[in-house]
Amino acid sequence: MDIEANLIFVRSFRNTFGRMEKALVLGAAGQIGTELVAALRAKWGTENVIATDLRPEALEAPAFALNAMDEPALRALVQEQGITEVYHLVAMLSATGEKMPEKAWELNMLTLFHVLNLAKEGLLKRVFWPSSIAAFGPNTPALDTPQYSPMDPTTVYGISKLAGELWCQYYHQKFGVDVRSLRYPGLISWKTLPGGGTTDYAIDIFHAARKENAYTSFLSEDTRLPMMHMEDAIRATLSLMEAPSESVKVRTSYNVSGIDFTPAELAENMRRHYPDLAMSYAPDFRQAIAASWPQRMDDAEARADWGWSPRFDLSSMVDDMVAHI
Ligand code: SER
Repeated sequence: MDIEANLIFVRSFRNTFGRMEKALVLGAAGQIGTELVAALRAKWGTENVIATDLRPEALEAPAFALNAMDEPALRALVQEQGITEVYHLVAMLSATGEKMPEKAWELNMLTLFHVLNLAKEGLLKRVFWPSSIAAFGPNTPALDTPQYSPMDPTTVYGISKLAGELWCQYYHQKFGVDVRSLRYPGLISWKTLPGGGTTDYAIDIFHAARKENAYTSFLSEDTRLPMMHMEDAIRATLSLMEAPSESVKVRTSYNVSGIDFTPAELAENMRRHYPDLAMSYAPDFRQAIAASWPQRMDDAEARADWGWSPRFDLSSMVDDMVAHI
């Protein structure tokens, strides 16, 4: 047997006689999904990670077209495939959500209930669902935002994340559902573009620098936001999901911190690679959203409960983005 065949044998042996795990990723073609599917497949074996999306064309098998709003189709797939864990990554983000509030609420909440209810019925062992810095608002302490703070989100996306966090905790406390969650900061990646978020400028700027050596930021130069390299975000997700259930003490959603910077600081750091990078600033409606969010989060609980620690700092994130875009 060659090494590859050996590995597949070991994994399926473990899966058959050991953990018996099979994951389903909803929204697998999105910014997080693309990289999470690859990471899960490297760990569990390709055959044990099912990728689904509304648009499955870009996905590698095993993959299916699935609208997460379609509860019977979701249920059938979970049952037919013997799924044990769902990673629910379907959401309408902050900026798009403000343009179609009712749709955002419906999509973000109904799909969460579909998954939580399957877990409540005992069809799933574990669920991952991401929350966001958007769950916080203008009454939250902006610097070193504690895990437990006033929330009061101002966007439909943020309201759906805060409500979702509380529903996750409710399903855990009432029905014993093992649902786990992270409050992701703005996620920075080069493999797949984000869509419709307020933190997207921190990715757009790399593409614009490469193409035009100039960028017009839709956030003002001194708007500080918490951000994280996608590799750190994926590592945080896998660590949280691998932690023993009793270590996962926060059942709303964990603060996780990576880096924080302003558009001006990011541009200044990027000038190590693009010395003439020209910046201009034209804040739009996203400025008010960003201004209501934390600037830097305190993630003491994540560090203490399951050993979280980020690897990327601002310069290593910039170097990695420049190398790949
Ligand atoms: N990146 C998201 C957004 O900007 C925040 O979770 O909407």
